[in-house]
Amino acid sequence: MRTDAEHTIYLKDYAPSPYRIVSVDLDFRILAENTTVTTQLTIEPRDDTAPGTPLVLDGDELSLTSIAIDGAPLVLSAYLAEPNSLTVFEPPLRRFVLETEVVLQPENNTPLMGLYRSSGTWCTQCEPEGFRRITYYMDRPDILATFNVRMTAPRDLAPVLLANGNLVDRGDAGDGMHFAVWQDPFPKPSYLFALVAGDLGAITDTFTTASGRKVDLAIYCTHGKEDQCYWAMDSLKRSMAWDEKRFGLEYDLDIFNIVAVSDFNFGAMENKGLNIFNDKLVFAHPDTATDGDYEGIERVIAHEYFHNWTGNRITCRDWFQLCLKEGLTVYRDQEFTSDERSRAVKRIGDVVGLRGAQFAEDGGPLAHPARPDEYREINNFYTATVYEKGAEIVRMLATLLGEAGFRKGMDLYFERHDGEATTIEAFLNVFGEANGTNLDQFKTWYLQAGTPRLTVEDNYDAANQTYTLKLKQETLPTPGQPTKAALVVPIKFGLIGPNGSPMEWSGVSGAEVRDEMIVLNTDAAEVTFTGVANRPVPSLLREFSAPVNMTTNLTQDDQLFLARHDNDPFNRWQALQDVGMALALSATKGTPWSDNAVAALSEAMADTLASDTLDDAFKALSLTIPAEYQIAQNLGSDVDPVRVHEVRSELLKAIFAPLAIQLLQAYRGLASDQPYAPDAKSNGHRALRNRLLGLLVASDAPGAANLAAEQYETARNMTDRLAALGASAYAWTEKAPVLLADFKIRFGGDPLVLDKWLAVTAAVPEDGVIERIRTILADPTFPKTNPNRLRSLMGVFAMSNPTQFTRADGAGFRFVAEFVAEIDKINPQVAARVLTGFRIWPMLEPKRREAAKSVLTTLQSGGSLSRNTADILTRMLA
Ligand code: ARG
Ligand code: ZN
Repeated sequence: MRTDAEHTIYLKDYAPSPYRIVSVDLDFRILAENTTVTTQLTIEPRDDTAPGTPLVLDGDELSLTSIAIDGAPLVLSAYLAEPNSLTVFEPPLRRFVLETEVVLQPENNTPLMGLYRSSGTWCTQCEPEGFRRITYYMDRPDILATFNVRMTAPRDLAPVLLANGNLVDRGDAGDGMHFAVWQDPFPKPSYLFALVAGDLGAITDTFTTASGRKVDLAIYCTHGKEDQCYWAMDSLKRSMAWDEKRFGLEYDLDIFNIVAVSDFNFGAMENKGLNIFNDKLVFAHPDTATDGDYEGIERVIAHEYFHNWTGNRITCRDWFQLCLKEGLTVYRDQEFTSDERSRAVKRIGDVVGLRGAQFAEDGGPLAHPARPDEYREINNFYTATVYEKGAEIVRMLATLLGEAGFRKGMDLYFERHDGEATTIEAFLNVFGEANGTNLDQFKTWYLQAGTPRLTVEDNYDAANQTYTLKLKQETLPTPGQPTKAALVVPIKFGLIGPNGSPMEWSGVSGAEVRDEMIVLNTDAAEVTFTGVANRPVPSLLREFSAPVNMTTNLTQDDQLFLARHDNDPFNRWQALQDVGMALALSATKGTPWSDNAVAALSEAMADTLASDTLDDAFKALSLTIPAEYQIAQNLGSDVDPVRVHEVRSELLKAIFAPLAIQLLQAYRGLASDQPYAPDAKSNGHRALRNRLLGLLVASDAPGAANLAAEQYETARNMTDRLAALGASAYAWTEKAPVLLADFKIRFGGDPLVLDKWLAVTAAVPEDGVIERIRTILADPTFPKTNPNRLRSLMGVFAMSNPTQFTRADGAGFRFVAEFVAEIDKINPQVAARVLTGFRIWPMLEPKRREAAKSVLTTLQSGGSLSRNTADILTRMLA
């Protein structure tokens, strides 16, 4: 038994391997009962490798059935084969071929890493360390090799045989078997290996690249679902065109395949030429998928496609560099969505998501830098910090360098590092070099955990016509990082004059200010503008130009002024949210809001709704107040989630009940009878209509519950139907149980729609929810091996039902902990992910805090947890 310390991997210990793998020949013999994998690795020592240096390959639950070097079987004393490693003591000090054979049981592979079976289909997931569950290998991303894959399988069970690269041969193999040979000309790390064998349907298309090459595209899926793949195909073609146009990047193989599978640990995987997807991120039909699903599919299809350059052509040297490919690729998919849809709406949605997931992570026991310097279980670092904060860091780089400067850096990155496995340092260097600038201090963003607090205080001096902004940044300690350095914070801003239009200044001093951006790179600065004729209202951190928590001395009047006049749509939205937040916070802390303050916000909301310049999607985002988790995060400590829930509901009523007539009129004015179209405009139309319905229900407007039931029954698409169901269930209206039952009957046969029912059920903030979930879990037909089902039910309960999860009697905590212990034996990644719902425990009020702590401690002392779950637990209790 190894200790935790032995398992900790440190960035500082990185060293290249003494041997290189030049090429890989894999032979899969797939049978219903098992799969035999014969591997030939062409291996070379490095120039400086000393004679007698053992060759150590990784394995995970493997058992070796044969081993040979250059065709000669090895004697027992020449190697040591264990489930998690294979050592050859004295390999030749020249190029040689190591041949091994292992037998796998894909059917029993419930962790869904390596080769497994999903609804009969054989498929793989290798990132980050799944390839070692397929064969002994140096399973690390800096080993780049070309792959040649031969697969043989029963023709009836697996008429479709796919792997990376190009199909070079196929044919009959006798005895009802057939074979295919795939070759990938691009050297790649093992985590990008993929294979699929199954009885699948497909839709096909082609894409002609800018240089005129024709690429064959296909999306494979369960028979009968082909008609649900067209949106994904459309998204793929738009992604391919966008990457050419925006970054000059063309696809590099003649084939691009996507396969949708039902059992998948996360969203999707960018395997070279053969992306494998969770089917919920492929299937779209208006009757069963919502606008959110359509947008998610478009985004993830783009994301995985963009990885072909940022991830595959240039990959990571080691897993500490994960955000090199993920942060950059998320940035790229965000830009794609912004260009395809509305930039402002996309930005607001992303920031809401960032605050909900990443700020929460960054402010709790699981906080870690975007580039961590140690880990025990790398699977636990596929986090909002690596992905979303990683994208924010790239976005700040683009903000600081400008679009042209950023593009120069990207071009140099591909020119210099194509075909390499590299680091964050190399990435920053090309931007520095291409722009003649030093990014040493900027790099701190990658190294330092925690969300910086930015405080701004303004002061106008009428006599001297000067205007001053006092800026301060501070980052609180996070686990392992007691002290923090000042970051480079780009603060986009504008000054708005009394008539609502932008104000000029004649001079500025105190910090670097260029165009409409202050670059704060010290703990504090005082920026003084001269020649300012009137007191302006400052619009700060436009477009959310840095991932910080900002507080200012602006009054409610200032904020409402911004909500009306700011020409940055992000800050217009933010200003309304800030006003709501201030009211919610003070009420939670015991100072009730004044009627005037609420009336002013109400009026601003009414104006927003009535505006004929703002678009529907923007209105939908604006007509609300911050979510409960958001309010809790701002309170920071001693949080009572029930109190937060009550205050928020009351505030929502106080703001929106007086507007009931306007809301209803606007709702009625938005038609619901058009045929479904997934474009941004129709999407915005539905979003606003459904927001209005939600507000009517949440503010108990007369007749609202019936209106929701009516919308549920007459809905012509899933977006409208689910919105009505969700609003009814969340408010637990009289009709809610009937609607839920109806939904289950109508759609229970479609697993992806069943997930929606599970999620709505699990989010109901009412006593009784735990019992209802227990009943669902206890049903013997409930598939405890399917990540989507488990996450929809228990992920949602632990992450999105704060009042019931954190019940003062501890019942919610115990329920989740029991679930984690049980599922950990089946799928550690799902268990560990659900467990992270506990990360809020340190900020709860004492009674709940103690309850959570004791449940976590009991779970830990129970022992026998997977490394995934044990790692989360240890950090959470540290
Ligand atoms: N590289 C994939 C993506 O972001 C995700 C892989 C996630 N792996 C994991 N172990 N969580 O597109
Ligand atoms: Zn990714």
